[in-house]
Amino acid sequence: MDSVDVAIVGAEGLVGQELLKILEERRFPASSVRLFDSERNLGTEYFFSHERLDIEEATADSFRNVDVAFFCDGADSSRRLMPAAIQAGSLVVDDSGITISDQAVPLVVPEVNAEDISRHKGVLGNPSCSTIQLVVALFPLHAVNPIKRIVVSTYQPVSCSGTAAALKELTAQAKRVLEGRRVCPHMYSHQIAFNVLPEIDVFLDNGYTKEEWRIVEETRRVLQNDSIGVSATCVRVPVYFGQSQAVNVEFDAAITPDEARRVLAQAPGVRILDDPSVSFYPQPWAASGLNHVFVGRIRRDMSRSNSLSMWVVCDNLRKGAALNAVQIIEEGLRRDWIKSKKRRA
Ligand SMILES: NC(=O)c1ccc[n+]([C@@H]2O[C@H](COP(=O)([O-])OP(=O)(O)OC[C@H]3O[C@@H](n4cnc5c(N)ncnc54)[C@H](OP(=O)(O)O)[C@@H]3O)[C@@H](O)[C@H]2O)c1
Repeated sequence: MDSVDVAIVGAEGLVGQELLKILEERRFPASSVRLFDSERNLGTEYFFSHERLDIEEATADSFRNVDVAFFCDGADSSRRLMPAAIQAGSLVVDDSGITISDQAVPLVVPEVNAEDISRHKGVLGNPSCSTIQLVVALFPLHAVNPIKRIVVSTYQPVSCSGTAAALKELTAQAKRVLEGRRVCPHMYSHQIAFNVLPEIDVFLDNGYTKEEWRIVEETRRVLQNDSIGVSATCVRVPVYFGQSQAVNVEFDAAITPDEARRVLAQAPGVRILDDPSVSFYPQPWAASGLNHVFVGRIRRDMSRSNSLSMWVVCDNLRKGAALNAVQIIEEGLRRDWIKSKKRRA
């Protein structure tokens, strides 16, 4: 397997920091790592595999010696910098979502559609954190009993807002509310502390939000099946880390909760936590810092045949973002679909 020269763009951010941690934890085959972030963070130092790394400013020239560039900065910065990385021949992993509408960019969740890595043309896409955990939990069931319809409600933490400023907003508002003072929302349309908001990203003409519609489109794309019915409601909750989902799934044929548990017990990346007798089920605070997608509360939908309901939880910064991006490259290197520039030359 090749070792590769890596860059993280947005290295000081929530996803970037997690990415750096994961590369080291998993002994990712990096021959070098460069960290890029905004001007504000230049000069910040890190240790990676006993080497000192400084945060640098990314310019058009920065990607010349980079094999793999993880883009986990904001959309505006990605739009500005990604073309330079592509031009320099670096393989881009887009975590910012700017390439999402480009059907030529494979959207990959390695547990589901690893083969799609082989058809990359310089850019590979990470689906949204909501889609990733949903398909990791549902694909193993879909493989044995095709899914007809998914109805999902998400409970998304503030760390899933695409900017670390959201964490500060929740903390500041919670303090003010506890002091009996009124708050002024900045990040969201309304107060987030002690509240829930059924609004993530902008509203579309069809009544869904962009985040909800992203789940619809991405789920079909990753599962490679346009005929699956998907309806999503995305809700922002005053939780810092870990996304939860209430998922209702209709299958082609009958399936019992025990059958689903048996299938999911063997599934890569999934852990079942499901014992209602002792209130044992996945929770976002407990999933935080862990790599798996946790599934519990699996039960028959008594109102509809061939249908199950379940509760799915995952660390949005790890499997929902940074870990998935790293796994894409690991899988591509392992299968020789991704090569270093030196080997390509
Ligand atoms: N959080 C999640 O669960 C999640 C999941 C999937 C995908 N994503 C996507 O990942 C991206 C990052 O999210 P995040 O939560 O990590 O946000 P974040 O904490 O705000 O991190 C973004 C980082 O990019 C930096 N940046 C801004 N301009 C830059 C530039 N020109 N060059 C290099 N770095 C620059 C920011 O610096 P400043 O703070 O100084 O601007 C910040 O350190 C977003 O596009 C988001 O949509 C997030």
